Amino acid sequence: MGVEINKLSIEQKHDLYRNGYIVLKNVISMELIEAALKRISKAKKGENLGGEKEMTDLVNASLLTPILHEIMGQFDPPIYSQVGVLKKTEPGDHFNNLGYKDKDMPYYGEQIHMDGSQTIAAPQEVQEGTEEEIYYRYIASGPKGDLGRSADVMGHNMVPLFQDPEMTLGLGSFTAFVFACLNDQMEEGMGQTSVLKGAHHETEKFFRWQYETNGRLGPEGPGWPRINYDAPNRCGLFYLPEAVQQKFVDETSESTPDGKKWARPTQVLMEPGDACITMYHIPHSGSRNEKGTESRKNIIFRLRNKKRQPNKLVNGVSDHPDRGQMGEWLEFEEGNDPWERSKHAMCNMWEEWEGMQDIVAEEETKS
Ligand SMILES: [Fe+2]
Repeated sequence: MGVEINKLSIEQKHDLYRNGYIVLKNVISMELIEAALKRISKAKKGENLGGEKEMTDLVNASLLTPILHEIMGQFDPPIYSQVGVLKKTEPGDHFNNLGYKDKDMPYYGEQIHMDGSQTIAAPQEVQEGTEEEIYYRYIASGPKGDLGRSADVMGHNMVPLFQDPEMTLGLGSFTAFVFACLNDQMEEGMGQTSVLKGAHHETEKFFRWQYETNGRLGPEGPGWPRINYDAPNRCGLFYLPEAVQQKFVDETSESTPDGKKWARPTQVLMEPGDACITMYHIPHSGSRNEKGTESRKNIIFRLRNKKRQPNKLVNGVSDHPDRGQMGEWLEFEEGNDPWERSKHAMCNMWEEWEGMQDIVAEEETKS
């Protein structure tokens, strides 16, 4: 091992600016990787390892912490994580969250999305009735039952339908993702995390446009209907605004059988010890592990710059930290409007990346 590098180079920062993500090679020691793998191999069936020290140490005890402090600023050390283990699978016959048959989707079944979106399990029967009937039936089929259209409605992924009681914010938000890689993912098709390279610029632009239009951000704001009634099951989610998706469609894009073209994501190739840091703003997805020789293992963290809400703990896994993990309403002091702060951060994506300011200024004068 050479000298430990605890900050990004200028070049890496430019890459992060342009692409919205960056892969750091060998940033986690083999000792930490092996400890995490050992803990996974000892897991009992159904045991959630997200809060185990072997997982959170991948950030807390590795070079990722000083690197993130330098580029992003202070954040709560994660106390939970998402243990992203994807078993080897074949293309399936079920309807995915986008309302398409899994086997019909291109790019290893990827469902590119923005994080912080509620997901209720996709209906497995083609839906009947008017669009309104389909919408209300869908939101009534979540884990809390029929509450009508309300910010108390939760998805099966435990994300609220809306963040705020006024229902003007359809996405939870944070600052950075960290994907810590525990196994070989150097060939495509091994279940990789995938990103829509460079699309963070477009999502920020889109949020700004939504904000200027009527202050409503995310699904059910301008230009972003929540449900795609034209999907094969008539009740798929628009996980990404169509305007953003179509910016990345070109002659190389693959289609579903209905002729719809889908933007081609980039599979993030990593091996044990590598990690990928991305902007919150990057559209992304897991993918089907068709070709792996073992389960895909990425430990996923969601971090938020402490300045957004200095008095609130961000646990490291939640994609909607302005609400409790299960959608609980949090108390905010007088004059602290969490929804407005989050909308501001979504419309100004670099503000929470403190160590990126010079690079951003330089890139912005270039363009
Ligand atoms: Fe996600």
